Amino acid sequence: MDKILEVKDLKVSFRTQAGTLKAVRDISFDLERGKTLAIVGESGSGKSVTAKAIQGILAGNTIIEGGEIFFDGKDLLKISEEEFHHIRGDKIAMIFQDPLSSLNPIVKIGKQITEATLLKSKLNRREAKDEFKTLLAELKNNMIESENGKNADKVNDMVKTFDKFMLESNHLENAYNIASTNAQDLDSLVEDFLFLASKNQKLDVKAQLRDFKNRLGKLKNHFLTGKFDQRIEEMKDELSGAVAAYSPKANNMEPVLETVNKLEDLLNEIVEQKKPDFTNIGYYKLYCQGADLNKPVEELNEVASKFTDEHFMNDFMEAAKKGVEHSYNKALENKKAILPELKKAREFFNGEFDKKEGKKAAKEISEKVDGTIDKLEFIKDSTAYTFRSAVSNGVDKLFYFIKRNPKEEKRFARQSARRDRMIARGKTVTWKVVPKVVYPPEQLKGNIVQVVDRLSEHYEDYIDTPVDFDKRTGDLIDHFKEEASLVVYRVTKGMAKEKAIKLMKEVGIHEPRLRYNQYPFEFSGGMRQRIVIAIALAANPEILICDEPTTALDVTIQSQILELINKLKEERNLSIIFITHDLGVVANMADDIAVMYAGKIVEYGTADDIFYDPRHPYTWALLSSMPDLDTKEKLDAIPGTPPNMIYPPQGDAFAARNKYALKIDFEEQPPFFQISETHRAATWLLHPDAPKVDTPKAITDRIARMNAKRMGGEQNA
Ligand SMILES: Nc1ncnc2c1ncn2[C@@H]1O[C@H](COP(=O)(O)OP(=O)(O)OP(=O)(O)O)[C@@H](O)[C@H]1O
Ligand SMILES: [Mg+2]
Repeated sequence: MDKILEVKDLKVSFRTQAGTLKAVRDISFDLERGKTLAIVGESGSGKSVTAKAIQGILAGNTIIEGGEIFFDGKDLLKISEEEFHHIRGDKIAMIFQDPLSSLNPIVKIGKQITEATLLKSKLNRREAKDEFKTLLAELKNNMIESENGKNADKVNDMVKTFDKFMLESNHLENAYNIASTNAQDLDSLVEDFLFLASKNQKLDVKAQLRDFKNRLGKLKNHFLTGKFDQRIEEMKDELSGAVAAYSPKANNMEPVLETVNKLEDLLNEIVEQKKPDFTNIGYYKLYCQGADLNKPVEELNEVASKFTDEHFMNDFMEAAKKGVEHSYNKALENKKAILPELKKAREFFNGEFDKKEGKKAAKEISEKVDGTIDKLEFIKDSTAYTFRSAVSNGVDKLFYFIKRNPKEEKRFARQSARRDRMIARGKTVTWKVVPKVVYPPEQLKGNIVQVVDRLSEHYEDYIDTPVDFDKRTGDLIDHFKEEASLVVYRVTKGMAKEKAIKLMKEVGIHEPRLRYNQYPFEFSGGMRQRIVIAIALAANPEILICDEPTTALDVTIQSQILELINKLKEERNLSIIFITHDLGVVANMADDIAVMYAGKIVEYGTADDIFYDPRHPYTWALLSSMPDLDTKEKLDAIPGTPPNMIYPPQGDAFAARNKYALKIDFEEQPPFFQISETHRAATWLLHPDAPKVDTPKAITDRIARMNAKRMGGEQNA
């Protein structure tokens, strides 16, 4: 079982005028990679709150009372906003019920899809540059220290050389990238031209052809167009000829199209070439002055990489390895030394302290923890890196107090709503609305202690784990190359546009090139939801959370969107959390189902468990209220209303609406009873001493019908 997301004992409340509303009360579930988990329950059962907790977009009056949400080795409830930033939208994307709320009405669809891609590219470049510089300085210091400063001059030279040829490679690569993206942009203009011509749209043919010729002339780059020089010149002549031959009056398109098609072929050939290995070529050029770069790319790659290995890289790797080892050992000693300190910190945070003392202690221990981080470990140790913010947030929360202040509360509500909207539109939001809440101090202290404990345990494991320094050094060098290459990797508007058009096709928008320039109001509801899905997919997320994505749509469109989500799941190996109040919607798409009632999961199992062997009376109620195409029977609405979650009932929250309720249901919370390895339900009916209650006839009848249908289907197959 490969779990991509784990939610453990999550508890979320809201501070309201009337008191603390307990929206999610201790729920746990796993999402497996490539699977769909459905969360099903009535309005107000806590489905959206759960989804928002995973996205880190809960409102300002939220209190996370406890629990963990593990993703990618991190607890999403404890990481900093800066880290969340790399996860939200990028790794975990969300689609809401109303597509319009996620789209900007006055911005063209195409722009809304490309926006996120372009912004991300810019941020990535800046970050890569910083990372490269800091990491190289760190490596240098450790290389020098590892020999007690004896070979400082030699190391300095080596690192300088490394930096210099990385820079040289960047220059070469940058020039290549510019030419390559210009070629791609031209390619996309040419495609647009051909598409519009095929639709008999009016075109300024002469101006377009002149523009093509002009752009083609500027494509010069040895590595990209070197071997095409001759053909480019011929193509330019041919374009001039086409301009001269075309007359708008006669509109003789055939020769024009022939020329433009040829141009497209040429551009495709140019764009599809293998990219040279610039890291090595940069070094080759620098240290083999006058080297012949005019070789075919494959040959050049080979010569350059051999040259790099023989002349420099082996020595550099050897020296770098010493630095890597040194950095590791230093950090390891500090890790060993900090264990007793962490123990002391744990005692401190468990005891009595005031705000000033708490802050001081948090700062002191965080500083010591910083010293235990191996900064040359390029896969960052998230437990250690998030320690500072987790402890200091913990202390802040413990002592934060605002008097009830309606104006302040309104401000929170407004800011949170604004932030939600921006996030829904795929914008990158760096600011956070800080929950200004106090909650049981013992609990909050417990959270701090937990952070300290987690680090201790993590370090104890770490100390015992052996390390392969050759591999670590190799990985580090690869990381340098990657970062250096990211610095010059620029996504242009043309590239982002092509990507958007591909995505629009993928989500089933016809004629995406025409649709690209339309506004949201020109799309139907179903199409809008497809666009929202395209925006969500733009960053290649691993998890897609769908919060009632089809509720606002009519039945046929609804099933089309469900089919689309299923198709994307298969093709992209997406893991999906699908939220709905209608069990019927997920019958054909869920692998696992969690049934929620009043902030708790009351039954959890595979889709078969829930549909063919339901055990909780609430699941029965949901199933009997589910429309069934084969019967004309009137639906059984679930009687009564869900409880007030400011004062949740003492026992099973569903007891008051449950005709099978036992006395104990009103008195004591039922625990989970395990029915099979995959299936569990929280109802006292499953207790061995409970009176026997048969599954209602309506349900058994339905199961019988489903079974008959299944058998029939199998026989037909
Ligand atoms: N910011 C908030 N402040 C106060 N209460 C809130 C807040 N957000 C949600 N709630 C309450 O938390 C409970 C769970 O809400 P949630 O949105 O998760 O319900 P849901 O299961 O998604 O229902 P629906 O099907 O109506 O979308 C509800 O009682 C809701 O009123
Ligand atoms: Mg909801």
